[in-house]
Amino acid sequence: MCGIIARVGEDDGVDRLLGGLERLEYRGYDSAGIAVENGTGLAVRKASGEVTDLKQSVSASRIHGGIGIGHTRWSTHGPPTDDNAHPHTDTTGEVAVVHNGVIDNHAALRRELEAAGCEFTSDTDTEVVPHRFERYLSAHPPEEAFRKTVRDLDGSYAIAAMVEGVDAVFAARRGSPLVLGVSDEEYFLASDVPAFLEHTDEVIYFEDDEIGVITPDHVEITTLDGRPVERASEVVAWDAEETSKGEYPHYMRKEIEMQDVSLANAIQGRIDDDGTTPDLDPFPPGTFAAIERIQFVACGTSFHAAKYGAQLLNNAGIPAQSFRASEYDDSIPVDEQTLVVAVTQSGETADTLRAFECAASGGARTVAVTNVVGSTAAREADDALFIRAGPEIGVAATKTFSSQVVVLSLLAHRVSADVADVAPWDDPAAFYDALERLPEDVRTVLDRGDAERVAEEFLGSDAFFFIGRGPGYPVAIEGALKFKEITYEHAEGFAAGELKHGPLALVTPRTPVFTVVTGDDNGTTVTNAEEAQTRGAPIVAVSAPGHRIDDVADASLQIPASHPDLAGLLANVQLQLLSYHTADRLGRAIDKPRNLAKSVTVE
Ligand code: F6R
Repeated sequence: MCGIIARVGEDDGVDRLLGGLERLEYRGYDSAGIAVENGTGLAVRKASGEVTDLKQSVSASRIHGGIGIGHTRWSTHGPPTDDNAHPHTDTTGEVAVVHNGVIDNHAALRRELEAAGCEFTSDTDTEVVPHRFERYLSAHPPEEAFRKTVRDLDGSYAIAAMVEGVDAVFAARRGSPLVLGVSDEEYFLASDVPAFLEHTDEVIYFEDDEIGVITPDHVEITTLDGRPVERASEVVAWDAEETSKGEYPHYMRKEIEMQDVSLANAIQGRIDDDGTTPDLDPFPPGTFAAIERIQFVACGTSFHAAKYGAQLLNNAGIPAQSFRASEYDDSIPVDEQTLVVAVTQSGETADTLRAFECAASGGARTVAVTNVVGSTAAREADDALFIRAGPEIGVAATKTFSSQVVVLSLLAHRVSADVADVAPWDDPAAFYDALERLPEDVRTVLDRGDAERVAEEFLGSDAFFFIGRGPGYPVAIEGALKFKEITYEHAEGFAAGELKHGPLALVTPRTPVFTVVTGDDNGTTVTNAEEAQTRGAPIVAVSAPGHRIDDVADASLQIPASHPDLAGLLANVQLQLLSYHTADRLGRAIDKPRNLAKSVTVE
């Protein structure tokens, strides 16, 4: 949700800024822009549209500079026009600013600045920042003027700013991610590591209410009130190769295809030598002995993974609930015996962070299950459990869902082993055998090719319904979310048993019903599918061979036989492929679906 980048070095950095913006485009692609110190002042190029459009405009009138800032936008205040694109400047063009977040008091600041003669050219909340900065510059040196500007802002922000003739980038963070990339030749500043990973893997994460001044040979970080901050750099475990599309036409395709690898990473070293218990750093046996209940908070796809995790815990006899983070508030009872788990790929989703904060202030113990080391969720939680999926660039989450489910299943096993009055998990060896086989089973699904055929067969349908029961239900709603997100077709997911309580009214011969079956449920899900079929709907079974749904289904997406707790994951991979191939046939912008952005940092 808006990506910012800055580059500070001696040689020309324009291509690095543009390359960084391309890597950040998953955070927003309404408009893009850069500003560089050109030797004769600040040169700004910006336009509505994607980074490729910006690249064309930059190559048409080439600009150069070692110090620059850039932005890719997901609109909050004002439509995606050229004027609303970042960087924003003050009236004289002396200051340029890029911003991710929302300035809550922008209206009051704008009134004040307009009364003082500043001319605004955009509808954005951000534009108050360069005007304010410029006014302070008339009486203060740049760093102090910047600090004063930031102190005047309410809301959330990651900001990078430049001043004409000053060899530095000024940075500030509150509530929006900001990370510094460090190398011998240059510094980067960005919303996320992939923006500069091909140039350096050494990073320093900014904390809230910190200011950075970055010059070509020095970085100084201080708190907002001026106290120096000493923070050692760390090396991120991600590989730059993972941030490129490689041979694949889309990031999403690559991320679906690489799930055997990402799942192997999620599992590696996390099963005890006995093969029947988890070995889950940082949670040795006994960690959760005092826990009586678990609440999950999450959004979107991560919520579906959380729902899956809650089911596994409930099956093991542990009270667990999953909440949509945007609906979680202090009316939900928590205490010291409550474990609240935030499930968030990015670790930066504003709704999830707010829910997490609410739970922590109620006294709950908190764990973040996230993909991003150094993310806000990881830092704010009592403990973090990393899903190790590697960078996910496609806006639609795929491999991170699978890794979240696996890590949550291991967490569920840890908790159930720790809680004394819960019966041991039924036949844990069978689960761990299936877990170790999971990457191979995922590969089998990926190599089948039936999803592409089924996508073709049902192209042009009026709507697409997904049903499931037990662990199949979160998979059904995830399948529908993925489908609508990238195909723009109408898709809905339902608990299989709910069809007859209303949704059957929508069923026609032009609405295929994808039926996820993860185990033997005495045939109830098959009966539900038949109820839809009787009304004319084609049934597509998503199941292992030999299941009784085969006798009913008009088409099938097959998965290998697996443990009932993991079969849903395999079914989900089939549904990811179905969405992908349908969207591809429809010519959709698969990696950048309209109106969406990854990492939603506003509530
Ligand atoms: C859907 C999708 C979103 C995210 C949601 C939460 O494909 O990606 O629904 O799952 O915005 O994001 P994280 O997991 O970063 O908190």
